[in-house]
Amino acid sequence: MTASSPRTSNARSSAPGERAFVVMVVAAGSGERLGHGMPKARVDLGGRTILERALESVEAWGRAARVVVTLPAGDAELAEVCRRHGAEAVEGGGTRAASVAAGLERIAGLPERSGLRGILVHDAARCLAPPAVFDAVAAALEAGERAVIPVLPVTDTVKAVDAEGYVASTPQRAGLRIVQTPQGFDLATLEAAHREAALLPAEVALGITDDAMLAETLGIPVATVPGSEESLKITVPLDLLLARTLLEGRSG
Ligand code: C5P
Repeated sequence: MTASSPRTSNARSSAPGERAFVVMVVAAGSGERLGHGMPKARVDLGGRTILERALESVEAWGRAARVVVTLPAGDAELAEVCRRHGAEAVEGGGTRAASVAAGLERIAGLPERSGLRGILVHDAARCLAPPAVFDAVAAALEAGERAVIPVLPVTDTVKAVDAEGYVASTPQRAGLRIVQTPQGFDLATLEAAHREAALLPAEVALGITDDAMLAETLGIPVATVPGSEESLKITVPLDLLLARTLLEGRSG
């Protein structure tokens, strides 16, 4: 799978390896489905918190000029993790979209904005995302895309069901993709998308599960690049087991 061809011509390449991106790590979720009785970002994964693992992935990529992290309100432990990694902590909101909006407010006043090639929004829950995925998203932005998402093919058959639980339709699997993070955007595009989102009724806003959905509502083409099985999202206990096994494989 290769990146879609850029549909825009605002390509701005930076020097190889240049720190030309803002990365926003969203880590303000409650982690209820993981069942550890603490925010997911604080859960241990092989001796380090999930947030630390996520920040290490960003550092391993090495192209972030600045890292902003959304955190649960008043979480001193995670704020300390951010401080140690030179990342800025911002209090998140009640939904993922609200957390991203809070992070964008912090970025709005950055003096170095004009030199940036884009912003990558990344779920802390995908803390083992490899540098190659960050690279692919960044390269598509540098080639002129305004919105870029990493994807994987779907291996299961997927059904749409109605409110009574009956199958309504079966979309063709070949045209479906599983969507991951980091999702990349031209900064002004993401800001415009979130301004629009702020006008949506609450019940619609609750159904916005990623940033690309907002770009789609604005009619902005969203390009795809190859994701990675290693970017799995830690949501339920089985995911944590898989992530631990993956880490052992990396260090062994
Ligand atoms: O809830 P979900 O698993 O989709 O969350 C994806 C990511 O968004 C997680 O890393 C989580 O910490 C973050 N999030 C957030 N603020 C919220 C809800 C989720 O930063 N209110």
